[in-house]
Amino acid sequence: MNEIILAIESSCDDTSIAVMHQRKVLANVTANQQIHAEYGGVVPEFASRAHQQNIVPILSKALAVAKIDISQLDAIAFTAGPGLLGSLLVGTSFAKSLSLALNKPLIEVNHMQAHILAHLIENEKDKYPNFPFLCLTVSGGHSQIVKVNSPYDFELIGESLDDAAGEAFDKAGKIMGLEYPAGPIIDKLAQDGNPLAYKFSKPKVADYNYSFSGLKTSILYFLQKQVALNPNFVQENINDLAASIQKTIIDILLDNLTKVAKDLNIKEIAIAGGVSANSGLRKALQEKREILNWEVFIPEMQYCTDNGGMIGIAAYYKYLVQDFADLSTLAQARKPVNAL
Ligand code: KG4
Ligand code: ZN
Repeated sequence: MNEIILAIESSCDDTSIAVMHQRKVLANVTANQQIHAEYGGVVPEFASRAHQQNIVPILSKALAVAKIDISQLDAIAFTAGPGLLGSLLVGTSFAKSLSLALNKPLIEVNHMQAHILAHLIENEKDKYPNFPFLCLTVSGGHSQIVKVNSPYDFELIGESLDDAAGEAFDKAGKIMGLEYPAGPIIDKLAQDGNPLAYKFSKPKVADYNYSFSGLKTSILYFLQKQVALNPNFVQENINDLAASIQKTIIDILLDNLTKVAKDLNIKEIAIAGGVSANSGLRKALQEKREILNWEVFIPEMQYCTDNGGMIGIAAYYKYLVQDFADLSTLAQARKPVNAL
C-alpha cells in the first residue's frame, strides 16, 4: 500500500491541511486568522468565513509543497469534532465534496485523539512513546489526562471541570490587557520575569481533575487591588506577573499529572495541544524527566497548535483498519476523547 492521505483541520481558528505518506508528513500548511485578536477571543462567525476563504488556497499550497497531484490521493480525512460547529462544517463539507468528486474514501478524525497521535508522526529522532502512555492534552478548549492504550484506545483519566489551561492563559492575559491569544505572549514575557514574584492560590480538586476558573478570579482581584494603589502596576510588573501566572498554571498541570503517573505506574509521559508549545511547561517536564525517571515526549512546535499533520496521522491509523466514514457523517461540536 502507498497511502497518500489528505488531512483537513478546521475546528477552531486555524485552517490547516496536510498531505501524508503513511506516517510521514509531506506538507503541513496552515493559515492563521488574525481577525480575532481585536475581539479578545475567537468570533465563531468570523472563523467559519475565514475558513471558507482559506481552504482552497491552502489545499493548493499543501499539494504543491508535497509535490502530489490531487489524483494521487488515496483518502480524504477531516476533523469531525470537537470544535466550533460552523468551523467544523467548512472542513467537513469540503472533505465530503472532495471524496465524492475524486471517488476516494472519507475518514473522520477526533481532534483530541489527533493532538495525542501527533507523537506518532515520523520524526528525525525516530523516537515515539510506547503504549500505554499518558498524555496531558492542554489546549484552548481542553485540559485532559488521557491513558493511551493504542492508536484506537483512549481512556480519559482526568479533565478540567471549568476553564481549559489555554483559556486560563488567555483570560489572565485579557485581564492584563494583552491581545488574544495571550498564551504565547505570556510565555515570551515570562522569560524575563521572576516566577516567584507573586503567589496565586491553587485549586483543590477531587480525583484527577483540573479547575482553572478560580485562578482567573484571584488574578483579577489581586490586580484590581494593586491598580487601585498604582495605576501603572501591570505595565511596571508585566514580566513578573507573566512569569508567576505561568508558573502557577504549570504547577497545577504537573502536580496532577505526577499523581496520575505515580498511581498508574506509567513513566512514558507526553504533552500535546497548543499549551504544549509553552517553553516553561516544556522545561518543567524535562526537569521531571530527570527527577522521576520519566521518558518524556514533547511535540515539535508545528504539531502543538492545531495542524493538519495531526489529523493526517490519526487518519492513517484509521486507514490501516479501513475505518471509513460515509457522506452522512456529521460534524460534532462536542466529542469525548474516546469517541470514534
Ligand atoms: O490546540 P490549540 O491550537 O487550539 C485548540 O484546540 O484550542 O490551542 C490554542 C491555545 C490558546 O489558548 C493559546 O493561548 C495556547 O494554546 N498557546 C499557548 C502557547 N501557544 C499557544 N499557551 C501558552 N504558551 C504558549 N507558548
Ligand atoms: Zn486543538
